[in-house]
Amino acid sequence: MKLKYVKKQNQEVQEIPEQCKTASRLSTDEIEHIAEIFKTPIVGSYNWDYTQEDNRIHRLYQLGKKLNWNVNHDINWEGIISQSRSPFTREGNAFGCYEQYLDMSEEKRIEFDWVRFSDQCSQFLHGEQGALIVASQLVSCAPTYNGKLYAASQAFDEARHVEFFNQFIDRQIHKRFPCRPGLKAILDMILTDERWDLKLFGMQVIIEGLALAAFNTAKAASSIPVFKEGIHFVTRDEGRHVAFGVNYLEEFTKTLSPEEKDIRAFVALEAMRLLRDPVADQEVFNNFGWDVEHAMEFFRDNFSRFDFKIQLFGRIIPNLKRIGLLETEKVRQVYGDIGLLDFENITPDTDIDWQSLEKPLSYMEKDDSFVEVPDELREQMIAHSLRRRSEAHRAV
Ligand SMILES: [Fe+2]
Ligand SMILES: [Fe+2]
Repeated sequence: MKLKYVKKQNQEVQEIPEQCKTASRLSTDEIEHIAEIFKTPIVGSYNWDYTQEDNRIHRLYQLGKKLNWNVNHDINWEGIISQSRSPFTREGNAFGCYEQYLDMSEEKRIEFDWVRFSDQCSQFLHGEQGALIVASQLVSCAPTYNGKLYAASQAFDEARHVEFFNQFIDRQIHKRFPCRPGLKAILDMILTDERWDLKLFGMQVIIEGLALAAFNTAKAASSIPVFKEGIHFVTRDEGRHVAFGVNYLEEFTKTLSPEEKDIRAFVALEAMRLLRDPVADQEVFNNFGWDVEHAMEFFRDNFSRFDFKIQLFGRIIPNLKRIGLLETEKVRQVYGDIGLLDFENITPDTDIDWQSLEKPLSYMEKDDSFVEVPDELREQMIAHSLRRRSEAHRAV
């Protein structure tokens, strides 16, 4: 086993040989592992009080043990498709009606779809690795007995998620993109912060909220059976993770001063800003010879992006309210000005739907994991976003 430590992640797109035959031919001495080092001042704790509180966290932990699944046995890997077909359904293709896309040959369009899909799945993989490392830190940091056991069960869940996306990329895509700068910046921030509640908050409320929004949007747009099946298993686990984070933080946040609450609310705002817009797509547009600015304009106004943002804000904002971070005048003013308070009264993930979380692991009967957002709110958000865009144009 050779280890090489680097200061920054590799930026190249990695081609993966079909079925990883090359890797399996190499001995462990020949394989080079590239690792990026980070340092963090974790404040860990023992807990000497083993009293078993019979609360929601304990129930979520028991549920996690019961609903363990196995990437090797529970996923039907026959469900991969040929790369001569698009990975997206006709309705799920965000560029399906875009002129620069339609101007390309069918072969080029399918190639373009696979590049975008590969990039998306690579981000899922990197995000899951980040979640795995944060969950392991939470085992040390969580101050209560129930919290430590739950965080350990989450670390195992995240290991399975990494394993699923990694195997899916190896078997179906054969290409891996580097972690996008926005996602990497947030993971770095969470992993290197010494405050345990901020780690828990950043991971369980922000990153998990993003993951649920992105996974559900991707599942609905996908034409690949094995991808939809894997996402179904992964999102079942993520639902428990968000519920844990919000329920655990709800009591703790009451002990924070208004200034400390504001810091967390503005961290959330910055994270949502980094996560809401596409970044890497610009490079893809460029590689296919498109007018990048025109394509970005189309993508920003595209309804599938609005749907993603609605899912993102519809999950995160009600949870921020439940934790008590949307209370001070300063925060309400800033969040209100950009339309985010419109989402505060949607039913939050933390109103745990035990019936849904306890369902057996059988393959999904229907796509039922979307946050339900009233039509008026969706229209309001689109109008708000378009108004801000035209104000920005006028300012230029
Ligand atoms: Fe995960
Ligand atoms: Fe998770």
